[in-house]
Amino acid sequence: MEKLVIRGDRELRLSGEVRMSGAKNAILPAIAASLLTSEEIRLSNIPRVKDVETILTLIAELGGAYQVDGDTVSLRVPKIRSDEASYELVRAMRASILVLGPLVARFGKAVVALPGGCAIGSRPIDLHIAGLQKLGATISLEHGYIQAQADRLRGAVVEFEKKTVTGTENLLMAAALAKGETILKNCAREPEVVDLAVLLNKMGAKIEWLDADTARVRGVRELGGAAHDIISDRIETGTFLVAGALTAGDFLLRNVCPEHMATVIEKLRASGAIVEIEGENALRVAGSREVKAQDIMTSPYPGFPTDMQAQFMVLLTQATGTSIITETIFDRRFSHVNELVRLGASIEVQGDKAVVKGKTLLSGAEVIATDLRASAALVLAGLVAAGETTINEIEHLDRGYERIEEKLRGLGASIERVKA
Ligand code: EPZ
Repeated sequence: MEKLVIRGDRELRLSGEVRMSGAKNAILPAIAASLLTSEEIRLSNIPRVKDVETILTLIAELGGAYQVDGDTVSLRVPKIRSDEASYELVRAMRASILVLGPLVARFGKAVVALPGGCAIGSRPIDLHIAGLQKLGATISLEHGYIQAQADRLRGAVVEFEKKTVTGTENLLMAAALAKGETILKNCAREPEVVDLAVLLNKMGAKIEWLDADTARVRGVRELGGAAHDIISDRIETGTFLVAGALTAGDFLLRNVCPEHMATVIEKLRASGAIVEIEGENALRVAGSREVKAQDIMTSPYPGFPTDMQAQFMVLLTQATGTSIITETIFDRRFSHVNELVRLGASIEVQGDKAVVKGKTLLSGAEVIATDLRASAALVLAGLVAAGETTINEIEHLDRGYERIEEKLRGLGASIERVKA
C-alpha cells in the first residue's frame, strides 16, 4: 500500500509545462476491440495506468497475446481458450464489461461477471443487456454472471433509454460483426466513443453517424487489424487545468485535444482563470487569486463531464460566494465531500446537489481516497491546504492517472509517494 504526502502552500503557483497521457476511457474499449479480429491491433499513446494492466490481463486470460513497448501495445487474439471474464477481474474494473459485446459477436458466447456497484453509484448494465438481446443474443443472469449466447448476431434498431458510454461502445462492437444493418439511437457521443468508432472503421467496420446521437452500423463478416493513436485524456487535462486555476499558476499542457474541452474551459474562464489554446494540441492555463463562484450541472457530452465534478468542487471551495453543483449522472458521486470538509471546506450535500460556500482556507490533514476522481480532488485540495496532507489508499488514483505526483512535482508542487 502506498500513500501520497503533499506539503501544501496557499501561495503555491504551479509553472513550467506538463505532458498529458492517452485517455484511459479510450484505451479500454480499444483493447476490448482486439477481440473482434484475429489480426494485430496496435495502439499508441497508451497511458501506463492500472486499468490498462487489468484489461490486458483479462485479454490474456481469454487467450489473447499482447506486447507493450513504451507507449504502444500490440494485441492479437487468433482464438480464445476461455470466454469468461471472472468476478475477480470485473470487480477490479467494471469496464471489463466491454469484453461482453466483442466475445458474443465473434465467438458466439460470453460469460461475464456482473459488475457490482462502486463508490459512485449502483452502476447497472441493463442497457448493455437489452441492446444485445435486440441483436439476437440469448442472455441469462445466473450466480452473479451474465451468460450470453448467439449463433450470429443480427442487425436491429436499438434505442438506449439513457445515454451510456460503455453501453454504446459494447453495441458498436457487437453490431460491427452482426448480420445486416443496426441503427443505434440515443448513443453517448463522448470523444472516447467516437475514437472507438474510428478504430473499428480502420478495422473494416462500416459505422457512420447519421446525426448527433444516431449511428448506423452495416455488419461485416470479418474485421481486420489496424494501428491507432489513442486520443489524449480530457479528464486528466481538466484535472491539471483546475490545478492551474487553483494555484494561480501559469503553465503549458501538451498532448491535449482542446476541442474535447469546450465546456470545462468555458467554466474555468467563468471562474476567472485564463485558458488559451496554444497551437495544435497544447493549452496554457493561468489562474487568478480571485476565483468566482458559479453553478455546475453535470451532463452527458458535450455537457460538463461528471468525471470533472469532484475536481471542480475543490476550485469552488476557493471561490468567493456560494456555488451549487448538481450531479445528474450518478446517484452517489459525492464521497469526496466528507474528506474535503475534513480539510476545512464548507460543503453541504442535499440530494443530487452539493452547496459549496467559499472562500474557505484549507488546512492539511490525513484523508482517504474512495474513487478515482475523488482521489484526484484530494490531491488538488492538498496542493493549496496549509501544512501536510496525506492521501491513503491511492490505488484508486493509479487506476486512471499516470505518475500524477511526478507530473505535479515537475510543475513545482511538493508531493511524494511513500510506503503506507
Ligand atoms: C463511463 O462509465 C466512464 N468509464 C466513467 O468514467 C464515466 O463517469 C461515465 O462513463 C459517464 O461519463 C469508462 O468509460 C470506462 P454510463 P459507464 O454507462 O459507461 C446508467 C472514470 O472516472 N446506466 O455512461 O459505466 C448509469 O448508472 C469513470 O474514468 C444504466 O442505468 O457509465 C449512470 O447513471 C467513472 N444502465 C448513467 O447511466 C446501464 O446499462 C451513465 O452511465 C448503463 C448505465
